[in-house]
Formats: sequence, structure tokens, C-alpha cells
Amino acid sequence: MRVLLTGSSGWLGRHLAPLLEAGGHAVTGLDVVPGAATAIVGSVADRALVDQVFAHHGIEAVIHAGALHKPDIARFPRQAFVAVNVTGTLNLLEAAAAAGHRRFVFTSTTSLMVRDDVRAGAGPAGAWWMDEDFGPVAPRNVYGITKRTGEEMCRLVSRESGMAVAILRTGRFFPEDDDTQAVPSGPNLKANEFLHRRLTVEDAARAHLAALERIAGCETFVLSAPPPFTRDDAAALAKDARTVIRRRLPEAEALYARAGWILPERIERVYDPAKAERLLGWRARTDFAAILAALRDGRPMPFAHDPGWTSPVLGAGGAEPCRDTGTTA
Ligand SMILES: NC(=O)c1ccc[n+]([C@@H]2O[C@H](COP(=O)([O-])OP(=O)(O)OC[C@H]3O[C@@H](n4cnc5c(N)ncnc54)[C@H](O)[C@@H]3O)[C@@H](O)[C@H]2O)c1
Repeated sequence: MRVLLTGSSGWLGRHLAPLLEAGGHAVTGLDVVPGAATAIVGSVADRALVDQVFAHHGIEAVIHAGALHKPDIARFPRQAFVAVNVTGTLNLLEAAAAAGHRRFVFTSTTSLMVRDDVRAGAGPAGAWWMDEDFGPVAPRNVYGITKRTGEEMCRLVSRESGMAVAILRTGRFFPEDDDTQAVPSGPNLKANEFLHRRLTVEDAARAHLAALERIAGCETFVLSAPPPFTRDDAAALAKDARTVIRRRLPEAEALYARAGWILPERIERVYDPAKAERLLGWRARTDFAAILAALRDGRPMPFAHDPGWTSPVLGAGGAEPCRDTGTTA
């Protein structure tokens, strides 16, 4: 397929573009900043540019990964989030529907499910078990609100046009440090997150390819590494995660001790990607067991960790992510 990939200069986009090409798809990258996979430098918020891209590049399907996201909250006004994540998404959906497309993949986020009470800690029954039925959904910031609205735009246009849409509520895959948590930090924190809320960028890219090729109807998916727990563990995870981990993964404690790492004392939410496995045939290749195997064998961690990474959108210079008049390159 000839695929329009937005956000092609970003962390996900730069991994996804080559994967799509290797899968036999022709990629047209669109981003506000240049990049190896970016053919067109401009904004999804620019409807004239979007129409021009559809008219001249023979696009057959869209993967819409370009966005302002959580770290951008501190860097851009709320209006920019509305322009990029809502107007930009609507522009692409309407252009795709008008062109008679059958497939649209929207990169959403698990972050929109993190209400204030979820962020505050475990729920009444223990760790929140977060699959696609989790609700009510009440995003706590402009990122979540605009992604949620983007999702609703997807559902609206899919209902009206019959276009198949995959909404991928993706867990964490960023390589930089989490500035909200100090202990543990770095690779130890990332490794711990593979228990319940993280996946590699490579697995996120593979999920997008699977969604592009297998989507039918309009479906929402939670994407994360498969947790080594079941719902029955939820109460115990919130009180004493280490005991549950010891039971499920007996070697974890010793391997962590050898590395000087610490396991989480409590786990207060778990993302469940079972639906994506069932309907898309996608399962993250890197899970917590892969991390333990790397620790056991003394191999590098199977995930990227780069404290110095920042989104390329910050290098946009004069190119505003929500500029109304786009340019092509
Ligand atoms: N990184 C994570 O952990 C994570 C988790 C969940 C969901 N996501 C989602 O995954 C997607 C990709 O995120 P990422 O981590 O690669 O972020 P990123 O910032 O590295 O990439 C996003 C890209 O979108 C581009 N962009 C911004 N405004 C644009 C506009 N108006 N028009 C076209 N392109 C624009 C940026 O220049 C950037 O290259 C985003 O939709 C994000 O919300 C990311």
C-alpha cells in the first residue's frame, strides 16, 4: 500500500517507516521537521497541504502518528494541541474518507485513561486493570483530552464512511527518563515498567504494521508488553507486588539484586493488550521475561534508553506545529 505516515521524523516514525518499507509498503512521510523518512515538511493542521498530499502522492492508507504529546505540554500552548491533535486528525480523516480509503491507523495513548484517581494510586479492588473497556474515560490534561477527541473523530468518520480505523492506545515507549520519578530511575525504572505499562518502540512499530494490514471495522486497542499477571493478582499487586512477582517469576529477585536494581513495591495499574493479540495477531516480542533473560546472560537491555532524547518537534525552528499555511519540500 502507499501509506501516508505522519510524525515520520519522530521516535516512533523513524522506526516505523523502515518497517513499513520492509513489509512492501511505499511510505510518504509528513512531519513539521525534516527527517530521513520525511518527504513532506509541513503540518497536519494545514488542510490545504493535506489535500495536496492526497492529490499528488496516490495515498491509499494513513498511519497518523504525528502529534504533540505529553512532554510538549510544557512547551506549547493548549491551542497548539487542539490544532495538531484534533484539527490535524480530522483533516486526515476527512481527506482519507473523501479519497475512499479503507484503512486508517491512529496512534492514541494509554495516557488518556489515566484519570486523577488512577494517577493517585490503586483503585478499590487493587491495581486498575486497564483494557479497552476501562472507563469512564476522563483525561486529566490537554494531551489526553485532544487524543480522546481525536479518537472520537475517528469513530465518527468511520461510522459515516465505513472506513476501517484502528485506534492504538499505546503504552510508554519513549527513550528518555521519566522526570516524575527519581527512585528507581533510568533503565531500572524502564525495566520495571515492562511488568505493566511499557513496550519497546520496535514492538509499537510492529503493532502499527499489524493494524494497517489486519484492521476491520473501528476498533480500539491497548498496546503494552504482555503483563506476567492476571486480573486475580490485582488486589495483591497494589499491596505487595514483590510477593506476586516472586510467585510468577521466581528468578527476578536474585537477578535484580545482582544488578543492584529494585523491583516495584506496589503496582497500581496494569495495561492489558490481550485484544490486540486476539484481533491483530500482535504480541510484543520484548516482555519482562526478555529483560530477565538479558540480566541473566549479561546482555544489553532489549530496550532503548536515552536520557538526552527530545522530540524533533523542538527543532522545528520557525516551523510551528500548528501553523495554518504549510509548505512542502
Ligand atoms: N513516546 C511514548 O511513550 C508514547 C506513548 C503513547 C503514545 N505515543 C504517541 O505516539 C506518537 C509518536 O510519538 P513519539 O514518541 O514518536 O513522539 P515524537 O515527538 O518523537 O514524534 C512525534 C512527531 O510528530 C511531529 N509533529 C508534531 N506536530 C506535527 C504536525 N502539526 N504535523 C506533522 N507532524 C507533527 C513531530 O515533529 C515529531 O517528529 C504520538 O502520537 C504520541 O502521542 C507516544
